[in-house]
Amino acid sequence: MTQDEMKRAVAKAAVEYVSDDCIVGVGTGSTANFFIDELALIKHRIDGAVASSEASAQRLKSHGIRVLDLNVVDELPVYVDGADEINRQLHMIKGGGAALTREKIVAAVAKQFICIADQSKLVDVLGRFPLPIEVIPMARSHVAREIVKLGGHPALREGVVTDNGNVIIDVHGLQIAQPVEFERTLNQIVGVVTNGLFAERRADVLLLGKPDGVQTIT
Ligand code: A5P
Repeated sequence: MTQDEMKRAVAKAAVEYVSDDCIVGVGTGSTANFFIDELALIKHRIDGAVASSEASAQRLKSHGIRVLDLNVVDELPVYVDGADEINRQLHMIKGGGAALTREKIVAAVAKQFICIADQSKLVDVLGRFPLPIEVIPMARSHVAREIVKLGGHPALREGVVTDNGNVIIDVHGLQIAQPVEFERTLNQIVGVVTNGLFAERRADVLLLGKPDGVQTIT
C-alpha cells in the first residue's frame, strides 16, 4: 500500500464508528479529507457534521453534507481526525494545518476521538514534529522567550494567520516525555491560545494504516 492508500484505508475504517442519525465531528488535513470523501458515501444516514476548519467545512459542503455550528449541537458522539504525531498512549501532536484550536474544541465536546493516521505518524516520544502553538499576535515575543526557558526552539510560522486571527509558533527540538504535564505548562503562558499537544484529551482509538492493513490501537 502507498501512503495515500493507507490514509484511505484508515478513513474507510473510521466510518464504522459513525452511528446512524448522528452529527459527526470532522478534522482537518489530508487524512481527514479522505474521511470526508468516505462520509459522503454514507451522507444519507447522518444528520450532518461539525468541521474543525474552514477548509474541511468547504469540502463537506461540496459533497452536500450539512455543516453545523458546534454551539447548536447537543451531542457529538464521535470526532475523526488525523495527527502529526501520535505515541502508543495515544497522546498526539496536532496543528500542522494550523487548525489546532478548533480541533481541540471539537475534541473536547466529542464523546469519542478516533485518530486516523498512516504508520509514519507513530512515534515512541513526541517532539520530532515541531509542536505548534497558537498565540495572540501581541504576545508572540513573550511566548517565544518563555518557550526558550522550557528548552524549546521557537519559530514563527511565516505568512500564516489562523482561522481565529492569531499566529502560530512552531517549537523545535523537544522530546516530550511527559505530555500531560507539558501541555499544562504551556497553557500557563499568558498569550498562548492553544498548544498542539492533545494529551489531557487524547485519542480513544487509533486506526493505524500499515502496508498490510489497518491496526486498531486503544
Ligand atoms: C491539522 O491542524 C492537523 O492537526 C492535522 O490533523 C494534521 O496535520 C494531519 O494532517 P495529515 O493527515 O495531512 O497528515
